[in-house]
Amino acid sequence: MYKIAIIPGDGIGIDVTKEAVKVFEIFRSEKGLPIELNYFDYGADKYLATGISMPDEQIKEFKEKYHAIFIGALGDPRIPDMAHAREILLGTRFKLDLYINYRPVRLIDPKLCPLKNKTTEDVNFVVFRENTEGMYAGVGGHLKKNTTDEVAVQTSVNTFKGVERIIRYAFDYARKHNLDKVTMSDKSNALRFEGDLWQRIFEKVGEEYPEIEKQHLFIDALVMQMVKRPEQFQVIVTSNMFGDIVTDLGGQLQGGLGIAASGNLHPGKVSMFEPVHGSAPKYKGQNVANPIAAILSAQLLLEHLGFAQEGKLIENAVITAIRSDKTTKDLGGKLGTKEVGDFICEEISRNLT
Ligand code: NAD
Ligand code: IPM
Ligand code: MN
Repeated sequence: MYKIAIIPGDGIGIDVTKEAVKVFEIFRSEKGLPIELNYFDYGADKYLATGISMPDEQIKEFKEKYHAIFIGALGDPRIPDMAHAREILLGTRFKLDLYINYRPVRLIDPKLCPLKNKTTEDVNFVVFRENTEGMYAGVGGHLKKNTTDEVAVQTSVNTFKGVERIIRYAFDYARKHNLDKVTMSDKSNALRFEGDLWQRIFEKVGEEYPEIEKQHLFIDALVMQMVKRPEQFQVIVTSNMFGDIVTDLGGQLQGGLGIAASGNLHPGKVSMFEPVHGSAPKYKGQNVANPIAAILSAQLLLEHLGFAQEGKLIENAVITAIRSDKTTKDLGGKLGTKEVGDFICEEISRNLT
């Protein structure tokens, strides 16, 4: 039995998680897939009522007893400093050492692409975002806070081990999937200490993959090229901060944040899956959020657990929904969150053998 923790979180995270759960439930009830779903109410309401964000004992339980975690989204205007969201989301990523943030950028239908004349082959690459260090490491502080002499320091932490393992994973992924190019992006022309480390490790690890072409682009050039000629990319590897930014752009190339999915991985350990988007508070509970990013994150989760066939069924159902415009407003359709989820579930059900 595979144990999956479900954390809907805040805002539209709650709406879209309901639809992803419907998909999990179909496989469980109609096909006897050996999964057990357990729900956790971590999020803004709980934090405001109790002060609890993500307890260490909970992380320990995930580590020891769970196979995967699904998170909707976190973020609530009542908690403007995002303390709970950082502790829940970044806490899960950091404390479970989920060093790989896997964010595929794949155009399902050319009609969704904001770029002119791009095909589904043109926009088809993956971003590996380093997920445990960089600017997100939490190193820094304030001096003389709330005075006009205030100093704020936010240090970017880059360890040999951390940079090496994400770069190696990107090359391994390329080799495994017969992709012949890996692009590493940094800002080594200005951020010279971390840039120098990333460059040296990229070159050194790259030597072990002679069949794979190595490309380096400064991050500003990368975002320009993602718009100008996305067809040149297969695998992109970059730091935590830059990876965050380029995957929102990547999301848009696929049709918007409403369909961008992600996995936070550590091979052999419990991993976490979530849409790339946030809690979009203004759409909360209105049945307008697109559930496809969450449903495709459920696909990544099931595939990660080894359920490839179920993953394919989800993907095909999503493709059918998009082709027949059974979608929410952001993709040009007229359906609500729940109706898109229902359509995808019926499609999966119909194709279950
Ligand atoms: P957001 O991703 O929540 O929303 C930005 C815009 O993208 C929305 O206004 C909407 O137009 C569109 N959008 C996003 N998801 C959509 C969906 N499923 N369907 C249709 N449209 C969708 O980003 P934001 O407004 O910058 O942040 C809102 C809150 O979410 C903040 O508190 C932020 O910190 C948090 N956040 C959380 C995560 C996460 O939990 N992983 C990710 C990003 C932002
Ligand atoms: C994401 C989000 C998070 C991040 C925020 C909410 C901390 O933007 O998952 O892309 O920056 O990692
Ligand atoms: Mn982001």
